[in-house]
Amino acid sequence: MPATLDTIVNLAKRRGFVFPSSEIYGGLRSAYDYGPLGVQLLRNLKAQWWRSMVQLRGDVVGLDSAILQARQVWAASGHEASFTDPLVECSNCHSRYRLDKLDDPNVCPTCGQKGTFGEARQFNLMFKTFMGPVEDDADLVYLRPETAQGIFINYENVRRTSRLKLPFGIAQIGKSFRNEITPGQFVFRTREFEQMEMEFFCRPEEADEWYRYWTNERHKWYLDLGMTPEHLRLRAHDKEELAHYAASCSDVEYRYPWGWDELEGIANRTDFDLRSHTEASGQDLSYFDDESGDRFFPYVIEPAAGATRTTFAFLIDAYHEEEVRGETRVVLKLDRRLAPYEVAVLPLSKKSELVTEAEKLAAMLRPDFMLELDVTQSIGRRYRRHDEIGTPYAITFDFDSLSDRAVTVRDRDTMGQDRVSIDQLTPYLEARLR
Ligand code: GAP
Repeated sequence: MPATLDTIVNLAKRRGFVFPSSEIYGGLRSAYDYGPLGVQLLRNLKAQWWRSMVQLRGDVVGLDSAILQARQVWAASGHEASFTDPLVECSNCHSRYRLDKLDDPNVCPTCGQKGTFGEARQFNLMFKTFMGPVEDDADLVYLRPETAQGIFINYENVRRTSRLKLPFGIAQIGKSFRNEITPGQFVFRTREFEQMEMEFFCRPEEADEWYRYWTNERHKWYLDLGMTPEHLRLRAHDKEELAHYAASCSDVEYRYPWGWDELEGIANRTDFDLRSHTEASGQDLSYFDDESGDRFFPYVIEPAAGATRTTFAFLIDAYHEEEVRGETRVVLKLDRRLAPYEVAVLPLSKKSELVTEAEKLAAMLRPDFMLELDVTQSIGRRYRRHDEIGTPYAITFDFDSLSDRAVTVRDRDTMGQDRVSIDQLTPYLEARLR
């Protein structure tokens, strides 16, 4: 059965994946905290992105730029002038909406009145703050609304120090902030979120080819991590939809509980950013090709994904309910590379000799596997809990284990069980988890 949004929100909160930010003060509604399981899932997801975008390639390097940047960055990038959404306000109940997200732009969804929205005004989504103790215009800075600009302003530093030749990419994972008019659908659209972006610099005449290449690569990445193929699609943007810097863009879309919506965008940003920063800063960011003797501005292909949004989509996709012996089993069929815990170690009962041995087993496995030693409740309940949080293998230390020095390993998906000698346990798990 496909998961509803409520089911996922409940599971996320009940099991410790995601909590509303500032919950003890009523919640902030537009930011979320990642609990012990959520942070592990998010970290695993980011590690997989980094592995495929940086580690496994010879042509992409990493970067971690500051969130606070000079205000001129956002003037040159066009964000000060154009990073806006159309905002309307109902003259009856004063609710505010993003015009382009309303089902019927003539009816207020809050009070149901018709014709109460006036002219839309363009609302800039960048959060403002002040650098230093004086709160005046000269000290205004923005919280970055995308990680990409940190890459463009470091383009020359990175190219020079890493001795890179075209084509090459610079990848970055980090927080971004947008004062969204209507945050919502849990962590899908928040005001504080995390992005995973890569700017791939290439010759202008090769940009179309690299655009197609990265669109396919990014689609494949989700499939390789186990996302259901029928829940994923690629959609090219119409001309009117394109961001101010993009010549073309395709979204990888996911079928969320509310319908198809964006997961990631792959854009051809042309030479817009390098050219703009050259003009605004006076620093020449053009590229000199020492073979042909040409000087030009590279084009940029940008796969831009949301780490928090993608984590959410994997959580939805992994959720399954199954009938097992007349009971409903909830199981998160997360890929082993994403699951918060790889292994659960469970003494069959709370008897002290079993607990002591299970502790020794956990200590033996911990250096190689992310695991939880779970001692509370009946063994059936502990299996169900680990199914529900997606732990691929549960190891039970029982009374026979005391004499035969073997344990039972249960597979989350098949529920099949193997008896494995303790001295063979690490290679047994490595063969299945690595
Ligand atoms: N540098 C290009 C850029 O930022 P974007 O399509 O605006 O492009 C890229 O953002 C990705 O960041 C989106 O596909 C989405 O996954 C994520 N994202 C954007 N806004 C978000 C928000 N308010 N909350 C959560 N994720 C968001």
